[in-house]
Order: sequence, then structure tokens, then C-alpha cells
Amino acid sequence: MHLPKPRGAFSERVLATLASGDAATIGVLPEPESPEDAALALWCLYELSYRGFQDVDDRLEWAPELIAVRRGLEEDLEARLRSRWSGQPAYDGDFATAFFAEIEAHDGPSLARFVQRKATADQVMELLQARSVYHLKESDPVAFSVPRLPVAPRAALMELQYDEYGGGRPERLHAHLFAEGLAALGLDPAEGAYLDQAPLAVLEENNAMSLFGLNRRLRGASVGHLAAFEATSSGPCRRMSRGLERLGLAPEMRAYYDEHVEADAVHEQLAVRLICQTLIEAEPETEADVWFGAFCCLDLEDRVAHHYLDRWGVTA
Ligand SMILES: [Fe+2]
Ligand SMILES: [Fe+2]
Repeated sequence: MHLPKPRGAFSERVLATLASGDAATIGVLPEPESPEDAALALWCLYELSYRGFQDVDDRLEWAPELIAVRRGLEEDLEARLRSRWSGQPAYDGDFATAFFAEIEAHDGPSLARFVQRKATADQVMELLQARSVYHLKESDPVAFSVPRLPVAPRAALMELQYDEYGGGRPERLHAHLFAEGLAALGLDPAEGAYLDQAPLAVLEENNAMSLFGLNRRLRGASVGHLAAFEATSSGPCRRMSRGLERLGLAPEMRAYYDEHVEADAVHEQLAVRLICQTLIEAEPETEADVWFGAFCCLDLEDRVAHHYLDRWGVTA
């Protein structure tokens, strides 16, 4: 992946420092010009912990100057996410029942419903480009949480991740299935290919997952996010597949979504009952963050949906 275009003086300086290979050149940074300026810089700093950039020295991942910048951006992001949250819901009975009820009660706009019924091919292509920012690193953020969990949720998360990473078969790796779908549609399957077009909502949605995955103290939020993601995936993936079929678009991309209709119906049970619930049993202090992570998943996806529906001047 190559470095993206900056979105202001702040990200310009961070990207120039990455390109220079010398973190000491960062100096005193200006304030971010906009939330997008900050979000892009944070996304790029996080990328150093995934597959990195061709034009950046891998050693910069742990450069103290860049870690300090990352920490400042993370604190702002976490404070913003927490300010949107109204807190852990009160419930009687078991966690899983309460969790599924909360997901059921959530009533956000649905891009998948719009794709199923009305979207044009151009709108679907634009959406898939935005989705590529996450789907090309599907399940990578929560993979950082594996060694941070107690025994029962650690085993269950690995069972789920085994599916996400193809069960030992590279051609079945979910991120790879999505890349094949992009290529079949004539889109660029390379990571970062559409980063320059990603709006703030998409950058923030992705940064939140890295924030939770890369900070051990937020392991509850990491698996709570995962549980909400899996519990809101199966039905929308069916709708995405039907929309692609309606438009006569590449069957390879439908195969990605079809794979998730059944897989995520299993994953939601695993994530809620065997990952989140067992984590809360072993480490009750993580419960509030499990709910917080779930809220962030739903809220950030609502923001992405609003962005595209507003941009296209439509309702879902
Ligand atoms: Fe997946
Ligand atoms: Fe899944």
C-alpha cells in the first residue's frame, strides 16, 4: 500500500514524517484542520501495525514520537465515542438475551436494504469501495484481542477467527473473497486503493476497531463491537447479495456476501454467548465496555449509512 493523500496540514506532516523514515523530524504538529485530517492521520499510524506501507520503514511502528501522536489522537477518538454513548442498559436475566434484545431494538438506516431494492450499479460500486477499507482487513483488528482474553473467550474467538481466515485455506479467507469480488467487478483489489475517497464516517468506523483491538484495556469494547457486528451481518449480507443479483453484478462479490449469510448466523451466537458472555463472567469489570463497543459498532455504521444515503439523496 502507498501513503494516501493528506487531508490537511496535520495529516500532511504525519505522512511526510512517515515517508521520511525519521520520526524525529515530526517536530511540533499543528492542530488538525478537521476531524477528517485527524482521522486519516490516525488510520495511517494504525496501518503500521497491520501490513504497513511500501514507502514507509517498518521500524516506525514503535517510534516513540509517532506513538505519542497516536495516543493523542486515540484519546480524542475515545472521548468522542464515549460522549455519544448513553451508558450500559439495565437488564434482568442473562447477558445474551439482553444483548440480542438491544440489537433487535436498534433502528438505524440500512444500506443493505437500499442496495437490495433500489441502488444503482454506480452507487453499489461506490459503497463497495468504501467497504473495502474494512473488508480487506476483515477480522484483523479483533485478532489483536486474542492473547488479551481469558481462556474461554480466547478459545471461542479463535474458533470464529478460524472461519474468518479461511479455515486453513487461503482462497476462503474472507478478506481475500472480498478482494476477488472487487477484481471481478473491475475495481482495484489492493489495500488502500480507495482510501482517498473514504469519508470521515468510514475512517472513524475503522479507527474505532483498531483503537479497541490495539489497547488491551479496551478488550471488552473489542469483543462487544465484534458481537454487534456479527449480530447485524447475516440479514444485511443476504440483502446485499440480492441487490447484486438484481443488478447483474459479479457473482464473485455475491459469493462473499453469501458466505456471510450462514457463517455470521453462527458467528453471532459464538460472539455473544461464548466470547462476550464468558468474558463478562471471568472479568465482570469488562461488561460496560462490551456494551460500549457494541454501541460504537451500531452508531458508527448508522453514520456511514447516513453519509451515503444523504449523498445520494435517498432514503433506505
Ligand atoms: Fe467474515
Ligand atoms: Fe463473521
